Amino acid sequence: MIVDFRSDTQTKPTKEMLEAMFRAKVGDDVFGEDPSINELELFTAEMFGMEASVFCPSGTMTNQIAIKCHTQAGDEVICDVSSHVYQYEGGGIAFNSGASVKLLYGDRGRITSQLVLDSINADDVHKAHTSLVSLENTSNRGGGSCYEMNEIRKIRQVCDQHNLILHLDGARLFNALVEKKQTPKEYGEIFHSISICLSKSLGCPVGSLLLGKKDFIKKARRIRKVFGGGMRQAGYLAAAGMYALRNNIGRLKEDHAHARQIAEALKKKDFVGEMLPVETNIIIFALKQPWTAKTLVEKLRQYDIWGHPISPSQVRLVTHLDITPPMVEKTIDLIESL
Ligand SMILES: Cc1ncc(COP(=O)(O)O)c(C=O)c1O
Repeated sequence: MIVDFRSDTQTKPTKEMLEAMFRAKVGDDVFGEDPSINELELFTAEMFGMEASVFCPSGTMTNQIAIKCHTQAGDEVICDVSSHVYQYEGGGIAFNSGASVKLLYGDRGRITSQLVLDSINADDVHKAHTSLVSLENTSNRGGGSCYEMNEIRKIRQVCDQHNLILHLDGARLFNALVEKKQTPKEYGEIFHSISICLSKSLGCPVGSLLLGKKDFIKKARRIRKVFGGGMRQAGYLAAAGMYALRNNIGRLKEDHAHARQIAEALKKKDFVGEMLPVETNIIIFALKQPWTAKTLVEKLRQYDIWGHPISPSQVRLVTHLDITPPMVEKTIDLIESL
């Protein structure tokens, strides 16, 4: 039994999900003729109370398409220093959009309206034109931290006052919704565009959606094609997405409970240093010397428990659909024995 805590992208489709995929009706989506994709796009748009959505292969693509649509070359994007759009999308903001970034030092990946306000460039020919603010909820490098709705609303006010667009990287938004008892529609009202992933905590093999107004999504479809993301009979993947949205959201609470149980066991150990507060399904903690991230990960591996060293001194463990209660028990037993 391998217990894979490296990422919530490690899930394999369940039998029920595979059956839903097997039954999917498909067509050529570049022609707009895949009924399963059309259903998924409509379903998610309605779920968020937004006008339209477009199905894409990955969260990197939905984020990068959004940034491309919302900016001109030479513009500046405001985001937290740890955000995925900046750290882990291959320099895509510069590569795809020719835009620069203003990096903010928020709290566990979360920026504030004041930080945003203070970082908007003056209307001055020397300066890049600030045009977009990108938030991430939950924040991956922030250890699955969640925004308060109030702060997001304040950020939107600042955006409105300064003519800025507000994008959300919601790769793990469903974790935040479940934990903070928020609704998709609250997010749909605030953001100009939202990216959601089906292939993280929701357990799908592939897929992300970008949501926004009709004219924005029309433009996004064009960029998706240019980026090589126009897919054909991809309704099989959309069917997995529909299955996940209907069945796998409520259960995220279990992942959060598992993460908290493991975190409690870790906190009791002398070799564990600072741990980020565990709000959802991600545990990030530091090791005290002589332990390093590498030595702990290697130790866990000997017992078929896989973690991810995210820096020389920090390990990340992520709970997800394929982590069962016996796996959590096994992990806690091992931690207690170290
Ligand atoms: C916060 C966040 N945004 C975006 C992505 C990108 O998703 P994908 O791997 O589907 O490109 C990830 C991937 O882990 C992520 O954690």
